[in-house]
Amino acid sequence: MDLIARDSAAIMGWRYEPRIIFSRGIGTKLIDVDGNEYYDVSSGMMCLVLGHAHPELTETIKSQAERIAHQSSWYSNPWAIEFAELVASTLPDNLKMMNYAVTGSEANEIAMRLALGATGGFDICSVVRGLHGGSLAAEAVTSVGGARKRGLGPLTMPAVSNCIIPPFYYRAPVRDQDEWDTISLKLTEEMIEYTTSQEVAAILVEPMMVAGGMIVPSKRWLQGLRDIADHWGALLIFDEAQLAPGRTGKMWGFEHYDVTPDVVTFAKGMSAGFAVCGAVTTLEIAERASGTKGLPWAGTYSSDPLACAVALKQLQIVLRDKLVARAASLGEVLESGLEDMKNRHECIGDVRGKGFYRMLDIVTDPESRDPDPEMAERIRICALAEGLVMIAVKNYIRISPPSIMTKDEVKDVVDRLDKAITRAKESPPTRTDFSSSSSLAADSGASKNA
Ligand SMILES: Cc1ncc(COP(=O)(O)O)c(C=O)c1O
Repeated sequence: MDLIARDSAAIMGWRYEPRIIFSRGIGTKLIDVDGNEYYDVSSGMMCLVLGHAHPELTETIKSQAERIAHQSSWYSNPWAIEFAELVASTLPDNLKMMNYAVTGSEANEIAMRLALGATGGFDICSVVRGLHGGSLAAEAVTSVGGARKRGLGPLTMPAVSNCIIPPFYYRAPVRDQDEWDTISLKLTEEMIEYTTSQEVAAILVEPMMVAGGMIVPSKRWLQGLRDIADHWGALLIFDEAQLAPGRTGKMWGFEHYDVTPDVVTFAKGMSAGFAVCGAVTTLEIAERASGTKGLPWAGTYSSDPLACAVALKQLQIVLRDKLVARAASLGEVLESGLEDMKNRHECIGDVRGKGFYRMLDIVTDPESRDPDPEMAERIRICALAEGLVMIAVKNYIRISPPSIMTKDEVKDVVDRLDKAITRAKESPPTRTDFSSSSSLAADSGASKNA
């Protein structure tokens, strides 16, 4: 049996079509079992800031595996301590206390425990179009893609209100950004007052809502959320899973906004692809919440030495090689290439994002701005033929390559994407079957408003 048939027979998982089995990664490239080479335009699952098989990380993995890979999470280890200290050194002064997790979902659940414990509140308020993970409490605060929530009702938590109106300027009912900030904040205040118990424990938000359509708020909007959190005595939690370290051109996405959260959660990019994620908060909040709500929280693999050593090494390299500034300057090259491309292809309604994380919003036409998920899927498939592995969810195509990419490679990626879009425009419509996707894809009937 070939690998694809064996994959279907043995592993319960949704798979993008066409099915490709990758067997190697080197730097910015992926290689499939047939030897074809592709750029990894999504850095795996947005994890690999240093690309694949970075020699220093490979060395760390080997030497750490020889020393100690796993231990009881009842005890600590030098790499967990040093990584927690280094993460804290990149954050505002008061954010010092780390509670480790193994997934982004778990990190957000720890942040929710912290909020419930520290405030004595009840409701966790999250943003419409926010994504915070798939474990059941994280799913409850997620509002991207109705399909993934179907039938879970009683299993997800009740203390949740997906009630914050997003600053989605591109599809807002009014075109003026400032006006929409005023309206969406006002509606959010109203929604919190009327849909919650008014014992608000937290406001949970991604500083840029990636899966919801790369929604980039204004400073005023995010600062407005800080004020709303303060008004209710709630914690402000920033979910940085998609953004740190450095992808947006700042170490933490929230640094663009002059707003400091009470808790910040990290995952993906900070993890270097290993199971090390976490929630960082202030000493005072940690003390208030400890001993309640199961805090401090640890599962089987929390703060494992191997994962922490690799994440530590990666963050040291990010700082040493100034990869945050590099992401900012690569982002300028990427942005100008994509903006240029937008002028040639009407199906690109908008290019959004910051730094080296951008997204194309694919539309039926620039006037109506109606989402076109089928076209986005066709582009993704044509991009494979051009040697680009990309993530397209609904009508949103993500571009988040490793920060080690060269400027010439960025230009090459843009050229290939341009060719892929030309191909997609000339090729017949692709039937998009998202029925087995656990994630965010358009579901029938809802795609118009995706
Ligand atoms: C913003 C955000 N938070 C949390 C998560 C969940 O992370 P994990 O899949 O590691 O549980 C994701 C995953 O895509 C995410 O995008």
